[in-house]
Amino acid sequence: MSEKLHITTERLTIRNLKPNDLEQFHEYRSNPDVTRFQGFDVMTLKESEEFIISMNRKSYGNPGEWVQYGIENNESKKLIGDCAIRLLEEDQVVAEIGITISPLHQKNGFAKEVMIGILKFLFDEKGIRRVVELTDVQNIASVKLLKSCGFRQEGHFIDNRYFKGELCSEYQFAMLKEEWDKIKQDLMDKF
Ligand SMILES: CC(C)(COP(=O)(O)OP(=O)(O)OC[C@H]1O[C@@H](n2cnc3c(N)ncnc32)[C@H](O)[C@@H]1OP(=O)(O)O)[C@@H](O)C(=O)NCCC(=O)NCCS
Repeated sequence: MSEKLHITTERLTIRNLKPNDLEQFHEYRSNPDVTRFQGFDVMTLKESEEFIISMNRKSYGNPGEWVQYGIENNESKKLIGDCAIRLLEEDQVVAEIGITISPLHQKNGFAKEVMIGILKFLFDEKGIRRVVELTDVQNIASVKLLKSCGFRQEGHFIDNRYFKGELCSEYQFAMLKEEWDKIKQDLMDKF
């Protein structure tokens, strides 16, 4: 059943994007360094606005659909990034995820906090069996984040597709529910 997603962590809240996120959202989504390794290109202000409106209506749990959620700082109440979740259409207990943190807020452990929050939600509340993320091998920050959260690298696809005009290689990282159960306490204690 579909529902509005709302995840709260110590410093952050993950919830639907809202029209008043526009200024912060557009600031990083119009930055080519941020979109370099992502399925998105830089957005115009109008595109950012339309994107937020389209995502504002979406719910968690519709198989096959990527939904991008806002990440709000609990103290400032401002958007600091966004994250995406998609349940596979062919196997709805497998989820794909992605995280973006504005360069103004990177390297503060926010992506890791979001990742732990999402994993807890998907595995412990939603009965998800496997979480997957594909990342460009050159995306050092993403690779570090995934390893630091206990993901297992299970694939290295060499020159497997053209992306933004370049031939790119990708790593596939994954985590299974039983792997999460083994590491979650340690991950949460150390964070
Ligand atoms: C990847 C990204 C989300 C990381 O966000 P962040 O909030 O800066 O990450 P964190 O502060 O939580 O750091 C998590 C780990 O990654 C490491 N890390 C983060 N950025 C790094 C970088 N540029 N180089 C090396 N390591 C980095 C941190 O040191 C930390 O490691 P640790 O837990 O072992 O100490 C952010 O760089 C980003 O938004 N990039 C652009 C969008 C993107 O490509 N997203 C991924 C694909 S969907």
